[in-house]
Amino acid sequence: MFRRLSKGINFLFGKKLQREKIFITNSLEFLERKRNIDKNYFDYIRIATLELISFEINKKNLRGNVAELGVYKGKFARYINLYFKERNLYLFDTFEGFDKRDVNKEINEGFSSGSQDFTNTSVASVLRIMPFPEKCIPVQGFFPESAKNINERFVFISIDADLYEPVYEGLKFFYKNLVNGGYIFVHDFNNDHYKGARKAVERFCGEENICFTPIPDAAGTVVITK
Ligand SMILES: C[S@@+](CC[C@H](N)C(=O)[O-])C[C@H]1O[C@@H](n2cnc3c(N)ncnc32)[C@H](O)[C@@H]1O
Repeated sequence: MFRRLSKGINFLFGKKLQREKIFITNSLEFLERKRNIDKNYFDYIRIATLELISFEINKKNLRGNVAELGVYKGKFARYINLYFKERNLYLFDTFEGFDKRDVNKEINEGFSSGSQDFTNTSVASVLRIMPFPEKCIPVQGFFPESAKNINERFVFISIDADLYEPVYEGLKFFYKNLVNGGYIFVHDFNNDHYKGARKAVERFCGEENICFTPIPDAAGTVVITK
């Protein structure tokens, strides 16, 4: 019944929905295992890809931690924490918004205005929304300086720092510490409001001869594997 309804909505309103960048579609029709997907997170592709990847990593019993660089209020990090509940989750952020060193580069290179405000958050408020806060390790400060004393291996990292410098530095730091079989998400690769993210991925992957897969989630994430 819902399938028919969805097809009807697409038939009647599909063009309008596409203009609003909304797509109603079926997904994983023939997969039988139960998946835990929060219907209130309005970026199905981002969260469903994370869930699929967590399944592969956990099935292989890969050893290592998970991380996010660019946490803000923790809205995506909470799902990393949920899907990798046995692993330590490193949370890298200034928790005070962009740093002016990175913003200067954005403006000089014409990548973005760097004017978005991410200051209204805190470590405490992020930990409050985590399903397993005891597994979370906040690393507050300017990245990459904040990672100087971190000597860990990672199975999954979400890089969502928007700007060229932290994305490039994030790739340098995390790719060398990524285990074989691990994954990195870089948010905003296909986002024309933050052109530095794509530039950073293209530069790093070109230098290291690494391939990547763009996915059609809301902000145009790219997935890198090792
Ligand atoms: C778009 S927000 C992250 C959103 C979050 N991942 C989500 O899905 O809700 C970007 C974050 O990157 C952080 N950030 C950007 N550059 C940084 C740097 N050099 N060091 C630490 N944090 C940085 C900002 O403070 C901001 O909180």
